[in-house]
Amino acid sequence: MIVDQLRLGPLLNFTYLIADRDGGEAMVVDPSYGVDPLLEAIDLRSVKVRYVLNTHSHQDHTAGNDEVVQRTGAKIVAHRKVPFRTDRAVDEGDVIEAGGLRVEVLYTPGHTQDSVLYIFSGHVATGDTLFVGECGRTDLEGGDPSQMYDTLLGRVVRLDDALVVLPGHDYGVTPTSTIGREKQENYTLQPRTREEFVRFLSE
Ligand SMILES: [Fe+2]
Repeated sequence: MIVDQLRLGPLLNFTYLIADRDGGEAMVVDPSYGVDPLLEAIDLRSVKVRYVLNTHSHQDHTAGNDEVVQRTGAKIVAHRKVPFRTDRAVDEGDVIEAGGLRVEVLYTPGHTQDSVLYIFSGHVATGDTLFVGECGRTDLEGGDPSQMYDTLLGRVVRLDDALVVLPGHDYGVTPTSTIGREKQENYTLQPRTREEFVRFLSE
């Protein structure tokens, strides 16, 4: 199992190349601005990129889609509510497979209405739903603090503590974390009522 984390673009985005092995089957998560380092990693590993997985529709997570598709022939996978064309529109519980890779989709609105988590091989790609030490904004179009409460305190905290968190931006003290560590250290995941959480996010 290969997970390459690449920090791309001016907004400290993380793009991921995941593969079952060198020379094997691969997927890309959230190709951001300036994908040359990603294309180099794909060449270096001689992997076949079957899918581009978008965690949500924001430009900084999708900017590299077209270039990766042109270069690799990958299919675009995203939640069914994204406002662009996909090859495979997914929703809660869907599974995407390629070679030894098996990726499960969790629908997690809050940051946007088309936000998902991708869970695979002991990892969870969290997009802008969860960062190391922080959560994503809920004050942009499609954001909803009450849905973010259900996503974070109803779903994320119930994930396996051992899952490695692969966030959508390099906003934390470390580039990755685990669900267990975030439950302890991330102030947005601390126990709150819905009312407390919504008030807290607006402060
Ligand atoms: Fe975003």
